[in-house]
Amino acid sequence: MTGNRTFSIIKPKAVRSGYIIPILSKIHEGGFKLIAMRFTQLTLNQAQDFYAVHKGKAFYEDLCEFMSSGPIIVLLLEKENAVEDYRKLIGATNPDEASENTVRSLYGSSVQENAVHGSDSDENAEIEGNFFFSATERF
Ligand code: CMP
Repeated sequence: MTGNRTFSIIKPKAVRSGYIIPILSKIHEGGFKLIAMRFTQLTLNQAQDFYAVHKGKAFYEDLCEFMSSGPIIVLLLEKENAVEDYRKLIGATNPDEASENTVRSLYGSSVQENAVHGSDSDENAEIEGNFFFSATERF
């Protein structure tokens, strides 16, 4: 049984580069419905909490600094088989390895600045969605 929701972040570099609308268009073309969406900016502490699962890895501190470096867009998305289909839409973590026409291949510039985050499981989609959105913000 697969879930029908996933969570995503449009990362600071993609926001700074003017890619919000093109990325939202790809999400729309991919058949995802918007359940919740908001501009926000993480503090360093909040970014460290969000990415706590990666604590201790070589890239963790840099990633948290980057993710708190500017505004982001947070999204809750709905579609059948949402987590898996969204990961197909965005492509591999490394934009150089992402398939042609995926979000990361089109709008990412490095492993860290890979345009978007997407949840890797139904369980994490729920945890990550709850991190950013309260019950009254979901439609
Ligand atoms: P994201 O989907 O946001 O989830 C964790 C992030 O860690 C990932 O995208 C990448 O941006 C980042 N990441 C994963 N592996 C590496 C790595 N080897 N070097 C730098 N950043 C990484």
